[in-house]
Amino acid sequence: MEKRKLIIDCDPGVDDALMLAFAAAHREEFDILAVTTVNGNQDIEKVTRNALDLTAFYGLKVPVAKGMGLPLVKEPHYAPETHGESGLGTCRLPASPEKAEEEPAVLFLYRILAGLPEEEKITIAATGPLTNIAVLLRLFPEVKRKIREILFMGGSLCGGNVTTAAEFNFYVDPEAAKIVFYSQIPLVMCGLDVTEKCTLTRNQILKLCQSGYPAARACGDMMGFALENTSEKYRGEVSVHDAAPLMYLLYPGIFSGQNEILDVDCSDGPSRGAVLGGFRWWRNEETEANVFVLTDVDREKFQEYLITALYALGEAE
Ligand code: BDR
Ligand code: CA
Repeated sequence: MEKRKLIIDCDPGVDDALMLAFAAAHREEFDILAVTTVNGNQDIEKVTRNALDLTAFYGLKVPVAKGMGLPLVKEPHYAPETHGESGLGTCRLPASPEKAEEEPAVLFLYRILAGLPEEEKITIAATGPLTNIAVLLRLFPEVKRKIREILFMGGSLCGGNVTTAAEFNFYVDPEAAKIVFYSQIPLVMCGLDVTEKCTLTRNQILKLCQSGYPAARACGDMMGFALENTSEKYRGEVSVHDAAPLMYLLYPGIFSGQNEILDVDCSDGPSRGAVLGGFRWWRNEETEANVFVLTDVDREKFQEYLITALYALGEAE
């Protein structure tokens, strides 16, 4: 099978950390050209340090480039209650001696895309606010034709997790999400509609914590923090939102979804960051749909594939 060329844009972040573990376990299927970071769950210095430490810890040899430290318009809004002060709960990873690229992420991404052979395209998986991608598309619109698709974790058609209306990544930078929505690049939205079903249970997390494999154990430790420190503890399971885009790339058959015409609310009111969608009689759903929205997943299969990947990573050490 030909490897899919992939760029990962993220803000680790506990669930970003599990997404990176899943990516590392599937390095035979993914040709990961770069990991870029963006302010989101924590500030840009912390999430970049986490990306460097995580990739080294998982044995994933890939350049890491530091991205935008601020959203396009508003001030940052971090999420220490879910991800801890460091961004990775209370998990302590060995410090990687690697450094981030000299170039800022947006320029680094531009160089990768501009340097591709004529017929080649790249997939982008974005699991933080879409700030880097928006700036890239605004600065260098000519790279759009080199992007095969963007899969992003963000948004929701079923209510938010920061406000009643808005999901975290879209709440932090709705203007960036809007630019991506209007980019005319094929988009797959892995929003809360589906990621609320992409969970690990308390028992599964406990088992990971007891694993003899360091990567699986660290992932259990991080997810345990997210479970016990949020209202997820009453549910007894916690979403691994950011693993959804990569899971969809490898196992599309366990998901279902539909095409939608979507927009984002960038007003200052209570619905800032909300995704606006649904039937619009004056538009042609067939030709104007701009986003494929994932709405459902086979939860057991998601859990099985994720857990298997986390253990496989340990065995590879
Ligand atoms: C998203 O918000 C972040 O806190 C998570 O890492 C995920 O990307 C879920 O709403
Ligand atoms: Ca994230």
